[in-house]
Amino acid sequence: MDKKQTLKEIRERVKSNCANDSTGHDWNHINRVRQNAIKIAKTEGGDIFIIELAALLHDVEDWKSTNAGSGLVNKLLKDVNIDEESSKKINDIISKISFKGVNHDDKMDTVEGKIVQDADRLDALGATGIIRSVLYGASNGIPLYDPLIKPDPNASAEKIKRSTTINHFYEKLLLLKDRMNTATAKRMAVEKHAFMELFLKQFYREWET
Ligand code: ADP
Ligand code: NI
Repeated sequence: MDKKQTLKEIRERVKSNCANDSTGHDWNHINRVRQNAIKIAKTEGGDIFIIELAALLHDVEDWKSTNAGSGLVNKLLKDVNIDEESSKKINDIISKISFKGVNHDDKMDTVEGKIVQDADRLDALGATGIIRSVLYGASNGIPLYDPLIKPDPNASAEKIKRSTTINHFYEKLLLLKDRMNTATAKRMAVEKHAFMELFLKQFYREWET
């Protein structure tokens, strides 16, 4: 299979696999990560084939349910006859992509990894990031806000998963701008970061009236 055909096949398989997702890992998220990764690669370089495949597959086993740890990523890669070296690169990116708190080592070794991680994180920011957080909170039965629970910027991955939606901004979202790997993504994060700050300011004003 040529590269174009391989990407098309994986795109279709991933799309149909995440059709019913309600955890913030639906096709819209995957496709935005894919598009942002391609955009960042235009200025930052890297192997675009690896970048697009890793972006497409990055949440396949993180669909918070049945697919986690199922080996589905490797099954999909095997079905399209990906070579061993590319498969290793893609698996390496996926294993390190998530933000698991500031004390967790999530450093990427390759330019491809840096780009896909940035693209995933950009989609956690801005108006889209706010909507995804609200959806995540709602589908996991998490309270929106409790002024008595203070946010913990050093929170572990386990704690981050369960925090109130408003505290999630301080435990992850507002920390991402300064943790982007590439200069291109850093620039793209600025406006999204400012919008979240504005959103929080307005939210507190409305809460207090
Ligand atoms: P990603 O696809 O960026 O790796 P995750 O799997 O960590 O994201 O989470 C899915 C979405 O839910 C992200 O937008 C993330 O910021 C958000 N999220 C994670 N934990 C919480 C939480 N406790 N409250 C609100 N939103 C959350
Ligand atoms: Ni993601």
